[in-house]
Amino acid sequence: MKHIISPSILAADFANLGAEIEKINASQAEWIHLDIMDGVFVPNISFGFPVIRHIRKYTEKILDAHLMIVNPDNYIEQFGDAGIGYLTVHYEACTHLHRTLQKIHSCGMKAGVAINPHTPVNLLSEIIQDADLILIMSVNPGFSGQKFISNTYGKVAQTKELLRQKNANAIIEVDGGIDLTNAPRLYELGAGALVAGNTIFMSNDPINTIYQLKCE
Ligand code: DX5
Ligand code: ZN
Repeated sequence: MKHIISPSILAADFANLGAEIEKINASQAEWIHLDIMDGVFVPNISFGFPVIRHIRKYTEKILDAHLMIVNPDNYIEQFGDAGIGYLTVHYEACTHLHRTLQKIHSCGMKAGVAINPHTPVNLLSEIIQDADLILIMSVNPGFSGQKFISNTYGKVAQTKELLRQKNANAIIEVDGGIDLTNAPRLYELGAGALVAGNTIFMSNDPINTIYQLKCE
């Protein structure tokens, strides 16, 4: 399986965002990860549509948006119009998750479901066939630069098994504290996409770090 890398620009230098995106453009990363935070679902606020629209003009990469917001349904159309490819909502933030995923699809995007570190994988059993992506959080969402939580390995394996049982084919993405030490095992267990913020943007050579993170 292909190993997709999704650099999280939350760790980029926002005063030089154009140059940061150009590094990603020149790399083998397939996606760009956009962390959208509202200060309610998570204890942090990040950025919104004006920034996303500028990024969209600057890159051909697929935009992988991770919504850490309450009431994501209110903004789905706007994310579609902003050129998002994968729109991921949190299981914990959606009362009518099935309807939310349908709405994402009807706005022309792929639909993802994210779960927090405390949320068991088996809660996805009735929705996994409707998702294009399952995002396993390997830190508590809100900040980049946190330590990888090691029970994520088991959750990736459980998700892979659930996909098999349900004959479903969502991509498994893992987000938080990803580096060169945990990436190989995550791929082995079934991850198809890895998000990395600090590891890429704090590197002296982000393009090479992305290449290494792919482990291909
Ligand atoms: C955390 C975000 C992550 C974060 C990853 O809430 O969802 O995408 O930016 O950053 P690192 O790789 O530095 O943990
Ligand atoms: Zn994220």
